[in-house]
Amino acid sequence: MQDKDSGTWSSLWINGRLATMRPGGAPYGAIEDGGALGVVGGRLAWVGPMADLPDAPERLAGEVHDLGGRWVTPGLIDCHTHLVYAGDRAREFEMRLQGASYEEIARAGGGIRSTVSATRAAGEAELLAVTERRLRALLAEGATVVEIKSGYGLDLATERKMLRVARALPAIHPVTIRTTFLGAHALPPEFEGRPDDYIDAVANEMLPAIAAEGLADAVDAFCERIGFTAEQTRRVFAAAQRLGLPVKLHAEQLSDMGGAALAAEFRALSADHLEYLSAEGVAAMARAGTVAVLLPGAFYFLRETRLPPVDALRQAGVPIAIATDSNPGTSPTTSLLLMLNMACTFFRLTPEEALAGATRSAARALGLEDSHGTLETGKAADFAIWDIDHPAELAYRIGGNPCAGVVKAGAPVIGPEAKAGGATPAARAGSVSRTGAAPEA
Ligand code: NIG
Ligand code: FE
Repeated sequence: MQDKDSGTWSSLWINGRLATMRPGGAPYGAIEDGGALGVVGGRLAWVGPMADLPDAPERLAGEVHDLGGRWVTPGLIDCHTHLVYAGDRAREFEMRLQGASYEEIARAGGGIRSTVSATRAAGEAELLAVTERRLRALLAEGATVVEIKSGYGLDLATERKMLRVARALPAIHPVTIRTTFLGAHALPPEFEGRPDDYIDAVANEMLPAIAAEGLADAVDAFCERIGFTAEQTRRVFAAAQRLGLPVKLHAEQLSDMGGAALAAEFRALSADHLEYLSAEGVAAMARAGTVAVLLPGAFYFLRETRLPPVDALRQAGVPIAIATDSNPGTSPTTSLLLMLNMACTFFRLTPEEALAGATRSAARALGLEDSHGTLETGKAADFAIWDIDHPAELAYRIGGNPCAGVVKAGAPVIGPEAKAGGATPAARAGSVSRTGAAPEA
């Protein structure tokens, strides 16, 4: 486990307060008394109190960083976003404020379809540029892993374009991206009145082509009155299963369609939204180990009043994750910290549960629980450094950003030790580290 050869760690971070988010021990999995992190090859080689270090810090690593008593958490994970899209839906927001409902606007051909038109029309470079703007905001708040869905193309060419944009991001920003194919997000206009034909195209043409190109890590659908039926969703999931891709589902957001139970039947990584989740849905998710991803931004923006069954999820032992759902129609936000706050105020999660929801459980919702989501030996050296006195502060504030630094795969990418001219404009100007590795690794 721990590497005791002197000088073999590439870097060592000392004098921190670590919210490791390992379950079962102290709240937040905290190591408060001089926590230290040893890094080798982008991974954590040692996590523990400095008092237990096998040697003097300078003999253990080529590079020693003093955290000055700051709190460190795992890099945040936004496990549900629609970050790649063109245009916005501010006009639709106005219409909703004047009384039109989200469903009415969708049925009248607006909603998701209006973002589809804008996204189809956008060039790939333009789409990349607007996506990067949103991504930078997420990263500046400590995110190191982001999931991105397609679903605003609804034809093979545009779905591919969206996924290529998502896949291009890690080469230019310090982030791990997981992509999800969401062809079954809405019915495109050219299939009006023929939803089953569109599902055939998604399952038998689009998905196999996207899988063959390696553009998707998972498959999602919108199982809803204004989306697709459980039976149609099942056909998409069956196609994903044949191709060996895990599934996720937008389930029980506006009504109870039995989507979560269907997702669980396919051993889905997650079922997301869940305001209308039934007791049977909770039980099915618990049996399958499917994560409940709660999206308080969409709950707030749609002025939903029905709460997801948080107590029932807790009692059944279903892991709860929190994400931004960043999208133009129902959650135009790029702040995961704000979502932590809303998860506590609206859904009554504890700040510790909310933080676990954006770290440990979010990793699991992406199938990354073995490599991300907690500060543990062997996992990625992805962590965020915070100017806070207690980890509850991450969920406490309504806006504001106490992130003082981010380390991605062992390299400082935001904060005083990040290399000047690195990939993150949020990195503080004039703060050059003599030792930091390239952020784009
Ligand atoms: O997660 N519910 C479906 N999909 C998105 C909204 C998409 C949109 O309105 O553009 C969601 O809320
Ligand atoms: Fe969504």
